[in-house]
Amino acid sequence: DWTMGAYREQAVDAIREQVGDARVLCALSGGVDSSVAAALLHEAIGDRLTCVFVDHGLLRKNEAEEVVGMFRDNMNLSVIHADESDLFLTALEGVSDPEQKRKIIGALFIEVFEKHARAIGGAEFLAQGTLYPDVIESVSFSGGPSVTIKSHHNVGGLPEKMGMKLVEPLRELFKDEVRALGRELGLPDSFIGRHPFPGPGLAIRCPGEITREKLAILREADAIFIDQIRRHGLYDDIWQAFVAILPVRTVGVMGDGRTYDFACALRAVSSVDGMTADYYPFSHDFLSETATRIINSVRGINRVTYDITSKPPGTIEWE
Ligand code: XMP
Repeated sequence: DWTMGAYREQAVDAIREQVGDARVLCALSGGVDSSVAAALLHEAIGDRLTCVFVDHGLLRKNEAEEVVGMFRDNMNLSVIHADESDLFLTALEGVSDPEQKRKIIGALFIEVFEKHARAIGGAEFLAQGTLYPDVIESVSFSGGPSVTIKSHHNVGGLPEKMGMKLVEPLRELFKDEVRALGRELGLPDSFIGRHPFPGPGLAIRCPGEITREKLAILREADAIFIDQIRRHGLYDDIWQAFVAILPVRTVGVMGDGRTYDFACALRAVSSVDGMTADYYPFSHDFLSETATRIINSVRGINRVTYDITSKPPGTIEWE
């Protein structure tokens, strides 16, 4: 794609001009955005880039291994795998309010990045894979008055507090353009096609209090749902799919016994840029097969619901 080829060169030049001889710390989330930003920065400034993947204990099943492995194996780019799950999960204990969760997670990300910036002898810049829709969504909604719907932890404010400057090489792009740029930069297709995953991770898919028990249940159910979607060849048709564990236990029956376990909600949407979305029209067979698999193999869930809310009025994530 000649357009992306040209954009790539232009973006590399712009990074070199902005950054000069300084060091850059890049926060990898495992999503396409931060991965493409890292690949672009790597091309522009080589080993003056340090990538950190923060494991906040709110990742999906096997996620840390997959992400760190992809960078080492395919991109020849070494990533610091920072296991900070105790730090984050302890700070989130007893917290139910969605904005409070986001604020706590955002603040801890700053702490962790600062620690790693010090460890490499100081970094002047922090890189983020902020996209155009992130920029506008955090400022206004539907062209109306300025209202913050959700405080995205990856937009605004963060580097100032850290005394770092921000480098955001994807700030003008939409998701499909970021994917094209990633392909242009040689990221594997399997990675480019990954569904988006939010910075606050499973915290915002676990309404109410976050516990290790709920997170473990959620990871298992989510892995089955995604596996079902792949088995049925639907992964690439869907913008994003995940399970949310609901803060309610319901009564069920299993064999001869009564169960009293968590309910969960499946969420899957089609979208172009995440700003609007339609719920995905799965077949009834797909839904019942998935519900049966989850209930039969995940201890702790005895009821599965399907979220048929579009955006607006819903948002994609539950918090
Ligand atoms: P919502 O739930 O606002 O999500 O409809 C739109 C898209 O943004 C993702 N999302 C986030 N991504 N940090 C991120 O990096 C965040 O704080 C955040 N909140 C939502 C969400 O997964 C969806 O793709």
